[in-house]
Amino acid sequence: MPDTSVAADKTRVFPLELDRLYPVVVRGEGVWVEDSAGKRYLDAMSGGSMAATLGHGRRDIIAAARDQALQLSYVHNERLTNPARERLAAELVEVAPAGMTRVRFTTGGAESNEAALQMARSYHVERGDTQRWHVISPAQAYHGPTMATLALTGRPGLQRPFGPYLSPSPPGGRGPGSGALQAPTHHHIPPSTWRFDPTGQAALDALDRVLEEVGPENVSAYFCEPVTAAALPAYSPPELFWKGLAERRDKHGFLILYDEVVTGMGRTGHWFAADKLPLVPDIIATAKGLGAGYTAIGGVICRDHVYQAFANGSRKLTQGHTWDGAPVSCAVGLRVIEVLREEGLIERMRTKGPKLRDELAATLKDIPLVREVRGHGFLLGVEYVDPRDGTSFLPPELGTARRVDLTAMDLGLIVYSTMPTRDGYAGDQTLFAPPFTTTDAELTQMMERFAETIRTVARSIEAQLR
Ligand SMILES: Cc1ncc(COP(=O)(O)O)c(C=O)c1O
Repeated sequence: MPDTSVAADKTRVFPLELDRLYPVVVRGEGVWVEDSAGKRYLDAMSGGSMAATLGHGRRDIIAAARDQALQLSYVHNERLTNPARERLAAELVEVAPAGMTRVRFTTGGAESNEAALQMARSYHVERGDTQRWHVISPAQAYHGPTMATLALTGRPGLQRPFGPYLSPSPPGGRGPGSGALQAPTHHHIPPSTWRFDPTGQAALDALDRVLEEVGPENVSAYFCEPVTAAALPAYSPPELFWKGLAERRDKHGFLILYDEVVTGMGRTGHWFAADKLPLVPDIIATAKGLGAGYTAIGGVICRDHVYQAFANGSRKLTQGHTWDGAPVSCAVGLRVIEVLREEGLIERMRTKGPKLRDELAATLKDIPLVREVRGHGFLLGVEYVDPRDGTSFLPPELGTARRVDLTAMDLGLIVYSTMPTRDGYAGDQTLFAPPFTTTDAELTQMMERFAETIRTVARSIEAQLR
């Protein structure tokens, strides 16, 4: 690690991991960032979190923010509106799946997901279906760190020690939630990966069991990432599952909500991942790429029938935040959409993404640690297994994911690996999500550094397991 990295005992920042050294990044240009020691890193994770989708240091986006700030930097959204907010809502409706007509702005991913949950619940209440509140979602997911979004995942590793807060009291006070140490009451189904359910049928069966258990008339929503990000990189259920989900929505009247915090605004080679799946969701929550790392902004986009429930009902949707739809953030969002269009970035990712996945798979194919390389556009995932049998999760004490990230950093590459092994549905894995503007030559360089990283880690893991 560069000797300028910051350790927890040398800073007033309360970092995520107290036993990690944090390189101090002082500047960024394109797909490169540089730390205070002058070491340069190739940013294969769009700012580390998939937010900086258009690379660093874009003068045009900065100029859009500056111009807007000079004109009008802030007004609140509840009693006032502003041209940037109005225009951005119209642009989002334009690029969203057909039939989506209204946008509610937020300032981030978890907020968008929370707002989507509230919108779904309020939709049912507006229609007199006040008993509908249950939400079903895949267990292996990530929707944010707030209490409601944590409750939406079925991952004890993330939820601990907040379980008591994640257990809502159902209307009428029935069921779990009133006690002190209850398990979360949202309902979870297993992911349809090669390991658990290659066809998607087991997930549909699990969905049916939950519907039966809680009563389909009590279900508000099915909530999921259409293509998963960090929790199960670049995973999406098989077609059978999506079709079965759509049939169950038609039959039972719950809504389908997509967390497109990562996949929205182009990441998968489409404006939204929803565009290429066999069903149109009722509500989409998006965030990161809308601000491209230049501002904190998110949005919730709904289909017209959702909006009409409010239009024909109380004519109100409460619960906003101070910064929702602020002019500077919306001006950034507008420029981001222009850039995506002007530079043909979404089309490029649609064609280049599959090639990138195939090249990455070919580069890693002789490494027994690597079981699967998945990809949708510029969202790629690499899954690791125990090289002794090619199937089992790696022993958690090896800390493979962490070793991958640290080795990559040493080699001047930023990727993002996770190890949710104890949650039961996924082991060590790496997310590879470069900025949309990464050139072919830079992609090749990223892959070379990544291959070297994995070879180095695989060698030491294999030696340890021998
Ligand atoms: C799929 C997904 N949903 C939601 C979130 C939460 O977004 P935020 O950190 O902006 O609250 C994230 C963050 O990484 C995410 O990857």
